[in-house]
Formats: sequence, structure tokens, C-alpha cells
Amino acid sequence: MGRAHVGIYAKNPRAKLVAFCDVDPKKASGDWGQGGGNLESGGLGIDPKTLRSHPTLEELCADPEVDLVDICLPTYLHAEATLKALASGKHVMCEKPLTMQVKDAEKIAAAAKKAKGFMMPAHCMRFWPEWAWLKEAVTSKRYGKVVSGVFRRYGSTPRWSWNQWILQPKLSGSALFDLHIHDIDFVRYVFGDPVAVFAAGNGGKATKGGIDQVMATYLFKDPKLMVAAEGGWNADPSYGFTMRYTVVFEKATVDFDLGRQGKTLLLHTTDAKEPEVITTATTNGWEGEVDYFLTCIEEKRRPTVTNAADAVGSVKLANAELKSVLTRKIVKL
Ligand SMILES: NC(=O)c1ccc[n+]([C@@H]2O[C@H](COP(=O)([O-])OP(=O)(O)OC[C@H]3O[C@@H](n4cnc5c(N)ncnc54)[C@H](O)[C@@H]3O)[C@@H](O)[C@H]2O)c1
Repeated sequence: MGRAHVGIYAKNPRAKLVAFCDVDPKKASGDWGQGGGNLESGGLGIDPKTLRSHPTLEELCADPEVDLVDICLPTYLHAEATLKALASGKHVMCEKPLTMQVKDAEKIAAAAKKAKGFMMPAHCMRFWPEWAWLKEAVTSKRYGKVVSGVFRRYGSTPRWSWNQWILQPKLSGSALFDLHIHDIDFVRYVFGDPVAVFAAGNGGKATKGGIDQVMATYLFKDPKLMVAAEGGWNADPSYGFTMRYTVVFEKATVDFDLGRQGKTLLLHTTDAKEPEVITTATTNGWEGEVDYFLTCIEEKRRPTVTNAADAVGSVKLANAELKSVLTRKIVKL
């Protein structure tokens, strides 16, 4: 993800990449492997060898030319790194999930409140154009109230990670915290915090002792609202990746499917024989989140679309789902 973020900053005229830090000696030397070092084929937009490579996060945070630190470390390192970077006075973006533990997320939120720099968790779905479209459609009530929402995110087992940290449930939180957190966070963003959750989950195919697939049903104050989300990473390699949603409103049904090229977002209305293809910006959520955070910094206003205080709620809900999976009971929030 670090490489992906670098490519995005490199293309954004409002940002200038100056330095990075990676514990891996090869990467620290600027050799980022396939797509990294080779500008001709990599499409990164910058040669990593032209950037200052700091041996530690402390040195990176002491670099006077650095205004914003973007943390793309393995999840178990997020809290410590975010707190250090905030204490140094820099603006900080940190990949999702902010942390796996509620108390760590609360520590970050408290530190972010007092910090000189701004803090933003990289909850990219809030910036994904077709998902931002859904947020607006729900909020504006253009198609009436929501009857039901179903979200699905599914992929092959991730095999790329550094020292295979991602397949160790204690370090990544498994699919529930690593993948399904996207939908947990988005469900909260659009519908608010549920009053209870029931989740079924299972593992064993991708990780030992982790939850490789989870199916959650959220209960809201409004007894008529039905929302569910499924996430998993135990599909076999050729499956690739899917993300989808289907939301039924009183007066329309919208369906997003990442794999339906050219018509990812379809709007079905009561009288229309054919669905309308909705077009949105061609940017993705990673570009959107970076661009938004740069705007916040330039305009000196704390991020509101997503921020550390709000991300605590997503970590809480993920933990409630975990509790529900383990106890096979509905968990109240
Ligand atoms: N938003 C998204 O769509 C998305 C997608 C993938 C990953 N992520 C998140 O991004 C984070 C990173 O995931 P990834 O897939 O890029 O992992 P990765 O294993 O591919 O990369 C982690 C990097 O951190 C480096 N590293 C490890 N320990 C370090 C330390 N102590 N100091 C400095 N560098 C260190 C490794 O050398 C490696 O380059 C995770 O939290 C993951 O959940 C988000």
C-alpha cells in the first residue's frame, strides 16, 4: 500500500515526496522491486532512489522538510507509529484499520485532538466515487428511505505481505479487521452506528485461528432498516477480488459491482425498463482520500469526512463483530 500511496502523491501536483522509511534493507536502499524501481514500467511517477531514506521513523519525523507522514505499516504497528508521528507535530495519515484495539484507537483520537498536526485514517471507501454517491443518495433521501443495504467484499488470500504478517491473526486481525473493516466503516458512515450486531465467521482455510470470512447483520434504531455485510479473503487464487453493494430504497434500487466494467453503478427505478448507468469521477478512493487530506492541510481545517475520533467507532464495531462470532450471540453496542 505504501507503493500505491507513493504513486498517488507523485501524481498530485499539490504534494512533493521527499523521504520514506522502511525496515527492509532492500526497500530502504530504494529498490522497491517490480513496479517500484523501474520508472519505465512501474508507473510510480518517481524514482525511490531520489528520495531520502530514513533508517527510523524518529528520523523521518525529525526531517524538517516533512509536513505529512503517511503510515502504511503492518496493522500491529499503526498505533505506536501514529502516536510518534503526531507527537512530532506532523500531519498524519494512517492506513486502515486504525488499530485493532479500542483502547489504542482512543489513545490516537485523544492525541489527535491535542496535536499540532491533523490526523486522518485512510478509510478510502468514503472517497470512492460510487460509494460517495451512495452516501449522498442516502443522506438526501432522493429515492426515499433505505429499505435494505447489502455489502460484499471478497478476495483471494493475500500472499504478498512482509514476513507474511497479514496471515497472522494477532498482527492483522484477519479478514475481519483487514478487509471487512472497509464495509464496517462505510455502513457506519452511511447509516450511523448500529444498536447491535450479529456476525457469523469462520477460518482455517487462509489463516490458522483467524477469521477468514465474516457475515454480519446490523440492527439499527429503525426496526425496518436491514443492513448486512460480508467480507472474506479465503477465495482461491484465480478468484481475484470483488466489491459490491446493493441498496434498495423506497423508490429505486442501486447496484455497484467493481467487476462490471463501464457500468459499475446501476440505478433501477420504478418505471424504467432498463437501468440507468451512473457515471461518477474516474478517480479512486485512495486518490480521493489523499487529495482531501491535502486540502484539509492547505485550508487549515481538521478532516471531517473521516477522522481519528470517528474511526474509534469502526474499531469498536469490528470488535463487537468479533465478540459476536466467538460467542454466537447478538452483541449490543
Ligand atoms: N486501503 C486499502 O485498500 C489497503 C490495501 C492494502 C493494505 N492496506 C493496509 O495497509 C497496511 C500495509 O499493508 P500492506 O499490504 O502494504 O503490507 P506489506 O507487508 O506489503 O507492506 C508493509 C511494509 O512495511 C515495512 N515495514 C515492516 N515493519 C516496519 C518497521 N518497523 N519500520 C518500517 N517499515 C516496516 C515492510 O518492509 C513493508 O515494506 C495494512 O494496515 C493494511 O491493512 C490498505
